[in-house]
Amino acid sequence: MNRVHIKTYGCQMNERDSEAVSAMLRARGYRMVASEDDCDVLLLNTCSVRDAAEQKAIGKAAYLSHRKKRQPDFVIGILGCMAQNRGAELLDKLPDVDLIVGTQKFHQVPDYLDNIRAARAAGVPISSSIVDIAEEAGSQNTIRDHVLAQDVAAASGGVGEEIAPQVSAFVSIQQGCNMDCAFCIVPKTRGDERSRPMDDIVAECRALANRGVREVTLLGQIVTSYGRRDYVHTDGISPFVQLLEKVSAIEGIERIRFTSPHPRGFKQDLVEAYGRLPKLCGYVHLPMQSGSNRILRAMNRPYTRERYLEIVDSLRAVRPDMYFSTDIIVGFPGETEEDFAETRELFGRANYDMAYIFKYSIRTGTPAATLGDQIPDEVKEARNAELLGLLQQNSLRRTATLIGTVEEVLVEGRDKTGERFMGRTRGNRVCVFDANPRLIGQLVPLKIERASVSTLYGELALAGVEG
Ligand code: SAH
Ligand code: F3S
Repeated sequence: MNRVHIKTYGCQMNERDSEAVSAMLRARGYRMVASEDDCDVLLLNTCSVRDAAEQKAIGKAAYLSHRKKRQPDFVIGILGCMAQNRGAELLDKLPDVDLIVGTQKFHQVPDYLDNIRAARAAGVPISSSIVDIAEEAGSQNTIRDHVLAQDVAAASGGVGEEIAPQVSAFVSIQQGCNMDCAFCIVPKTRGDERSRPMDDIVAECRALANRGVREVTLLGQIVTSYGRRDYVHTDGISPFVQLLEKVSAIEGIERIRFTSPHPRGFKQDLVEAYGRLPKLCGYVHLPMQSGSNRILRAMNRPYTRERYLEIVDSLRAVRPDMYFSTDIIVGFPGETEEDFAETRELFGRANYDMAYIFKYSIRTGTPAATLGDQIPDEVKEARNAELLGLLQQNSLRRTATLIGTVEEVLVEGRDKTGERFMGRTRGNRVCVFDANPRLIGQLVPLKIERASVSTLYGELALAGVEG
């Protein structure tokens, strides 16, 4: 009754939340298992950003209900954004779900599972499900424990096996968002913006470094606002940049990434940080959403296309080889051909290496849900396809310039086949190459020799390093 599997939908924040829940459950004596077929407890950590994401998790939970017939003690839990968004109403459709836990209550999951197990062991029939989607002061500080790959390997008794330490880790620095973009459900599912104390984050990064982690990705919905209520600017330096400086100073941390900044908060101090903090990777995910000022206003995104481009240009001035990625929504209510043409134009100018292009999805309870002039699906589809085509061209062009160059790669571990090794460039491109396991966790120079659509292939460029 103590084998747990967590299936995660959605963003990196959700992945991090799932990891933290795993760490808490392990500390409580639960066994985390990789296969959902072999578990006693299945937790779905859900996403609400688009309707399709919710439908996927609902479909999965409905399908899992059948399993209760042959495995009566089987426990199904729904965690995270959809739990928060829909709460007890989910039980109308999914009466077999035992546990519904919102985004501020992840740390309660072990207690709730203990209660369910104790009740079942005592033969008490469970007549009702547990639903907890309350707000909780300080809950941003509860996502802090990690289960690293080496912990999992050690627990499964990997004697004699090569246990590679985990090289890259997510660190949550903030929860929630106060921005109220007209399309977005996140302020409802994640609550008010709350930052973790800087010292806690630095201590967490230091502990990760001591355990072999070399790269951290700082996570928040709007990291550029980090700490704005809790810390003051010093010499024009924002609390977020102060945090970057502190993480940069940690010995052992070689690379720092973060996601996501907001164009509104991307000020000169952050641009300049790229000039003086070499550990800051030259890859910026900068959500654009739309390239039309009219649509940006309707979306309640407080910047213009001109300002957006200015940020991109100023970052390229500091780091000419900067890589960019973005989020775009096509088919926001009222988006005309002219609006879309402006998005396409800005999309081309910014020259993205990667982009997440979303078709607008109505989210009940958001301001945009009640706007008229919804865009037909086939128009959304066509605009989506057009941007994807552009992205592919950009990406291929960039790849062509990489072939023959030497890139700094952080060796993360074995590749999918287990025969070669994989790592990432500073620009977040995945590379596959031959290496020695001892190089895991090291920064190595890699001569790029060829590429597929998504992967670079190369050879270590340091004679003798391999041995
Ligand atoms: N601030 C967060 C945004 C979370 S939502 C971050 O930048 O990490 C992630 C992305 O989903 C948004 O940037 C937006 O492009 C997309 N999105 C949000 N609501 C949407 C909706 N209703 N329809 C389509 N895409 C949406
Ligand atoms: Fe959503 Fe806008 Fe915040 S996209 S998460 S409301 S910055």
